[in-house]
Amino acid sequence: GSGKTYTMFTSDHSVKCDEDDLFDASGKSGIASWGIIPRVCAEIFQAIDFRKENVAMGIGASLSLSYIEIYGNEVIDLLRNGSACGHSRVAASRYVLEGSAEVAIESIEDVLQLLNVGEKLKRKGATAMNQRSSRAHTVLILKLTQNSRKTGDKMTSRMFLADLGGSEKLKKSQILHDQSNFIVEKIIHDGNAPQQSSQRENSKNQLQEAVYINLGLLALKNCAEALKYKRRHVPYADSKLTMMLSEGMGGNSRTTVLICGSQEADQTAETIDALKFGQSCGKISKTSTSSNIKMLCSLVKSIEKEISDCEEEIEKHERWEMKETTRIDPRAEGEARTETWNT
Ligand SMILES: Nc1ncnc2c1ncn2[C@@H]1O[C@H](COP(=O)(O)OP(=O)(O)O)[C@@H](O)[C@H]1O
Ligand SMILES: [Mg+2]
Repeated sequence: GSGKTYTMFTSDHSVKCDEDDLFDASGKSGIASWGIIPRVCAEIFQAIDFRKENVAMGIGASLSLSYIEIYGNEVIDLLRNGSACGHSRVAASRYVLEGSAEVAIESIEDVLQLLNVGEKLKRKGATAMNQRSSRAHTVLILKLTQNSRKTGDKMTSRMFLADLGGSEKLKKSQILHDQSNFIVEKIIHDGNAPQQSSQRENSKNQLQEAVYINLGLLALKNCAEALKYKRRHVPYADSKLTMMLSEGMGGNSRTTVLICGSQEADQTAETIDALKFGQSCGKISKTSTSSNIKMLCSLVKSIEKEISDCEEEIEKHERWEMKETTRIDPRAEGEARTETWNT
């Protein structure tokens, strides 16, 4: 292990979830010693509470969490006792993204409790099936729904937090590296695994497992590559993992990739590969803004132009004038009356 799960999930259940303790910056306790997922949740709750307290802002918010595991072609709901998410190839990501795997959360305690539920299930799977837990990908989705009490507008945002399965086990299994690569490519290109010869039959399951993890990682790599070169087609559909993460990878999103490297010498090749992947991700630039934002930006620009045109026009014509007019009122008995008009 290189620390991926540790980085994402670590939390200290003994810490009392008093908000002041939580944000203690000393680093010894509270949030500073937590992993990214519980930390993100705590910060979101802090922001929600702030908005609730400042009633004048008029913003209401609710948060929900989905916690799933992708293992090969299987996508299971870690918060519903490992039940399958959807039934068809496409259905799983739709099932999850449309909210069928959601659980509403209201506090950081809720989150820690749900993480515990998922963790127990992962551990159960790990003993039942050969190291499943470190090989599967875990995806946690936070959905924030905000509504403005003044205008009634609603806004939904999603955050995807993924803990990817390792590729390191592939080499340690008894399968030749190039053999499995061949199979991965075959599956990606034709959708079928090649015929297994009788000698390979023994390690078929093991191989299948390795292929599945790498299928997700390879598809992820290919998507990152396509995004980097701004290709028209990004092969999200090549794996369940990339289908699930597609919304968070391209388009109107921000993505952060964290690479964990092992210090062990015999992991050098994998570590270098991982670093190269990170380097390649760093070259992806934002490809598009959502049409909503584009529309608002152009609207603001056109209004600004109108205002500056008006100002120019005003400046051109604006000056103080003093005009003296002498008007003789016949009724004023020949007396001239001078009136001064200021314009
Ligand atoms: N920064 C760290 N500090 C202390 N222990 C760590 C740290 N990173 C990882 N570990 C420990 O190393 C082991 C492997 O880490 P893990 O996160 O499970 O690896 P991975 O998910 O990459 O396979 C775990 O027992 C974990 O507690
Ligand atoms: Mg792990």
